[in-house]
Order: sequence, then structure tokens, then C-alpha cells
Amino acid sequence: MKIDILTLFPDMYNHFLTESIIGRAIKEKKVEINIYNIRDYSKDPHKKVDDYPFGGGKGMVLMPQPIFDAIKDLKDKDSYVILLTPQGKTYNQKMAYQLSLKKHIIIICGHYEGFDERIRTLADLELSIGDYILTGGELASMVITDSITRLLDGVITKESHLNDSFNNSLLDYPVYTRPAIYEGLEVPEVLLSGHHKNIEKWRYEEQLKRTKERRPDLLGDDNK
Ligand code: ADE
Repeated sequence: MKIDILTLFPDMYNHFLTESIIGRAIKEKKVEINIYNIRDYSKDPHKKVDDYPFGGGKGMVLMPQPIFDAIKDLKDKDSYVILLTPQGKTYNQKMAYQLSLKKHIIIICGHYEGFDERIRTLADLELSIGDYILTGGELASMVITDSITRLLDGVITKESHLNDSFNNSLLDYPVYTRPAIYEGLEVPEVLLSGHHKNIEKWRYEEQLKRTKERRPDLLGDDNK
């Protein structure tokens, strides 16, 4: 899997690409992640990437030329182009699974003050990570890249993500580690019993209880 990210702020990715599970996945070649500076594609003598909006109004608008040229350069028959914008479909775990099956994803980070509407024609999918406004798509691209990468073969163990919250539309069950009693707070007895069938049953019941209490919207809904 290859993920190409188009951004005006490439330095924001420095630690994201070297730390923790993503850093390891890149080192072990489970994923290739490339950061491209949109400015490098500008044909303007001063490397300008934005301009005033036609019709007036405040703020600058990302010009189509650098993005169109970048996509022409990077796209091939296996590419899937995602445009990040608060107006996109709201991202969820089901989409993360679908995207983890793609060979090549190109993510375009939107500009804080808006982008030329014609850029939309380049996208196979517009995504938002939630109903709030970020200064740009960079953090959203990291969220999406992270959630896809951890699902790729060999990045984390299969069991780790089979139990993820949102699988089967249920939140994950509670977990505990040593000590068995901490500041008077006890680990549920069943977890210390060594009885695997009972533990499995308890965990499933806890998942149901938790989801009912915290996210009743997930029940009776296949999380689409
Ligand atoms: N750009 C600005 N806000 C965003 C959001 N919520 N999701 C994706 N991209 C964005």
C-alpha cells in the first residue's frame, strides 16, 4: 500500500512518519508514505499557491493548477484520490477497512480558507473527520493514514484489531492488568478465573452493556 499526501505543510509530518507503529510500519516496508509539497508543483514564478476569490470576499483560495499538476504526476490506474474537507462524508472504521484494501491512495489536504471548486473534480471521495473545522487537512490526513496503516497485514496482530471498538458495531470490552487490587479497586473475578469460556461471555456482555450506555446509536445500525 502506498499513501501519497499533498500538503502545504510537509514539516507537520516529521514525527508522525518516524514514531511508534507508523514509524515501524514504514521501516518494515508494510506501507510507503510520501509527503509532497503542493508549492513544489506551482508554475508561478514566486511559487504562489493561492489567490483572491472571484466575486470578492475574505481569505485566499487554493488555486487549481498545482493540485491538478500534482495529481497528473502521481496518479495511475490503481490510485484512489481523497480530498479532505469538512464538507466530506464523515470518516468511520468501516471506511478505514475499505480504504486499507486499496493499492494506492492520494490524499489532498484542503486549505484553511478554501480551495477552488474545480479541485473537487479530481477526487474519488471527499472525507471529513468530524463536524468541526481544522486549520487545514493535515491532521485529518494523519488520522486517516494512521487508522488505515494499523489495519495492513503485519502492522499489528490480527487479534488486536479484531477486538477494536466499532467492529460488529460494538465498543471494546474493558481490560485490566496487574495488580489485581489497586487503591481498593478490584479486577472482576471472572478475569482471574482462567475459565476462557466464561471470560469470553463476560467480555461480550460488557461490550453490549457499554455500547448501550455510551453509544446506543451504534446498536441496530451497521455503522455505515
Ligand atoms: N479540513 C478542515 N476541517 C476538516 C475536517 N473536519 N475534516 C477533514 N478536513 C478538514
